[in-house]
Amino acid sequence: MAITTYPWLLALPKVELHIHLEGMLEPELMLSLARKNGIQLPFNTIGQLYEAYRFNQLQDFLDIYYQGAQVLITQQDFYDLTWHYLKKCQQQNIVHAEPFFDPQTHTARGIPFGDVIEGISAALTDAREKHGITSHLIMCFLRHLSEIDAFNTLEQAKPFLDCLTAVGLDSSEKGHPPEKFSRVFNQAKTLGLLTVAHAGEEGPALNIWSAINTLGVSRIDHGVTAIDDTKLIDYLVGTQLPLTVCPLSNVKLAIFPEMSKHCILNLLEKGVCVTVNSDDPAYFGGYLTENFYALSQSLNLTQTQAHKMLVNAIQASFANDNRKQAMLSQLTNFLNSNKHSMI
Ligand code: ADE
Ligand code: ZN
Repeated sequence: MAITTYPWLLALPKVELHIHLEGMLEPELMLSLARKNGIQLPFNTIGQLYEAYRFNQLQDFLDIYYQGAQVLITQQDFYDLTWHYLKKCQQQNIVHAEPFFDPQTHTARGIPFGDVIEGISAALTDAREKHGITSHLIMCFLRHLSEIDAFNTLEQAKPFLDCLTAVGLDSSEKGHPPEKFSRVFNQAKTLGLLTVAHAGEEGPALNIWSAINTLGVSRIDHGVTAIDDTKLIDYLVGTQLPLTVCPLSNVKLAIFPEMSKHCILNLLEKGVCVTVNSDDPAYFGGYLTENFYALSQSLNLTQTQAHKMLVNAIQASFANDNRKQAMLSQLTNFLNSNKHSMI
């Protein structure tokens, strides 16, 4: 059955595996933090910010995203930013999330690593205790910076390993292939961390192979250019290595000219383990529900397809087996309940 209603998608229990904390900085919060912290931005109004959010490629977005992140100064700022997302999770029935953060964006400005991670982690703990929203935090290395910089960041993370589940790799894909970070990822694994990496967003399918073969990742973030490589598709189907796909992001960053051309449902129908995610919702026009809704509007997403991608997300998550079982039951109960019928 095709999905037609936004309220049904809103109430559907959801899991998010690809969301950048710095990408959930809404214009209102950005401008208020800028005022509070005395940070000068090239934008003074919400209108100017939305005007600037027109991107032709990934780098256009990253330039503005790093500028925006400069308003984050205190531990409380990182708490508030994270809490804002967790409130969204409550509104959208996102029951489990595995957010990324980019410590180098902050430590390069002299913000102590501990302030960043402790602010974020305190909000995640509060959401678990108060609202039952579970989470795992992923620390990303910025791939446009050097390997040494990544090693230094991993060193700074050592006192906080209890707060971290995995390391990831993000920022400019072109010119910075995954293998540049194979040694630092190896060290992260020796510390007990899992690994994920952005690959095949703007870069070729070759980068996905490299993330698999040189970084030993548990998931690929984006991975949409896999559609160009039939051997890779066979591999992804055979191994069920998950892709965390971000539909609204991909259209905003011109990876696909419009949502109706997005390959996510082709990948799903081929048997690839794809999941739906929001990436940087404050910049790309929507959170997780809006991403599902866009697929329903442009690609006639069915209930069965939405269900499959959510089961994929639960299974691809870093939650333990008990939590996975609980989330699977919650999803099944929702789909079986008449109260949530779409008619
Ligand atoms: N950092 C935040 N969003 C990103 C994206 N879509 N690709 C790479 N790095 C990012
Ligand atoms: Zn991303």
